[in-house]
Amino acid sequence: MKAAYIRELFDRYVIGNYRRCGVVFVRGEGCYLWDAEGRRYLDLLPGLGVGALGHCHPRVVAAIKEQAERLIHVHNNYYWESQGLLARELVKRAFPGKVFFCNSGAEAMEAAIKLARRHGWKEGRTELISLENCFHGRTYGALSATSQAKFHAGFEPLVPGFRYVPFGDLDALAKAAGHRTAAIILEPVQGEGGIFPLTGDYLRGARKIADSVGALVIYDECQSGLGRTGDWFAYQTLGGPEPDIMALAKPLGGGLPAGAIIAKERVAAAFVPGTHGSTFGGNPMACAAGLAAIEAIEKDRLLDNVRAMTPVLGYGLRRLKEKHAGRIVALRQCGLMAAVDLNGPSVGVVERCRELGLLVNSTHDITVRFLPAMIVTREQIEEGLAVFDKALETTR
Ligand SMILES: Cc1ncc(COP(=O)(O)O)c(C=O)c1O
Repeated sequence: MKAAYIRELFDRYVIGNYRRCGVVFVRGEGCYLWDAEGRRYLDLLPGLGVGALGHCHPRVVAAIKEQAERLIHVHNNYYWESQGLLARELVKRAFPGKVFFCNSGAEAMEAAIKLARRHGWKEGRTELISLENCFHGRTYGALSATSQAKFHAGFEPLVPGFRYVPFGDLDALAKAAGHRTAAIILEPVQGEGGIFPLTGDYLRGARKIADSVGALVIYDECQSGLGRTGDWFAYQTLGGPEPDIMALAKPLGGGLPAGAIIAKERVAAAFVPGTHGSTFGGNPMACAAGLAAIEAIEKDRLLDNVRAMTPVLGYGLRRLKEKHAGRIVALRQCGLMAAVDLNGPSVGVVERCRELGLLVNSTHDITVRFLPAMIVTREQIEEGLAVFDKALETTR
């Protein structure tokens, strides 16, 4: 099918809630994508954080094929192997607890918020506190937890009971928390907000504040979790304590839609039959793909690769900041999550990168975001940064 016709189908039949660029992709392999004209792109932001293993990782493809031939879907009134195994593998890498599966990051945050409220319900704990500049998803609970006003516009009234405190300010958090607080919600590394990592000190302080008022701590690791920071979870990289509930999504299903929360057992017990659910959550396909993804990270030693590539990306970006002093005004990085703030809107540079064959994105207006796959090589990082350099040189 011709690319022009595919674009026409979208224009005619698909709701226009995304700002799509003109490219039609037809194939992906590793860190590369190919468009309908056969042009190759280096993808340093595969699937907006989904592609931790790049595109079409052979282990994930094999697991999907194998599972599809045996069992595609059964619902959650029954048992099946891959959901039980994936729950065990997640708990092993995080903290003792139990898992609820859903299909996306927003759904994982809905589950986290509902579980926290249900847990604190009898004590009248209905309030949730999150941080300024955070992003937790687009459904109403997740949107209400998201503090950025631009995502709220036109959708009010939001769910009551949410309040926001300044990023990194423990005094403000201590003032806001009290006997009505169900949970404090934190992204250990703010992703959509432009890659702002919290410190280990802050995470420890927040845990103390939560404990002192009897509230829970929720980490949203939908973007930062499952290896991208060089540990299984970003809170481990940052030296933070365990949360009570942690939300996961993006790479969880190896590219298939999947979300989950892991909750400490005493908290998880607040979900009894009938309190929450999901028709597709934890389905055989997504869980089989997720298991294969974890196996690939382990067998191919990809956490080590992330740790090795982190300074390569950091060094390259610092050199570009020196070269483009004034144009690049700030850099932030945690593992293979990196952000470059420009002295003006970043969308033009991102478009120029794409014209030159590099895929990154623009977040938070002035920021260029890099979330390369965990399989990325030194050569690919250098290739990507050379293109970024050229894009900076040829745009204003
Ligand atoms: C930290 C975080 N939480 C939640 C979400 C929402 O995930 P989804 O788009 O899968 O609903 C995102 C998406 O970018 C995210 O980065």
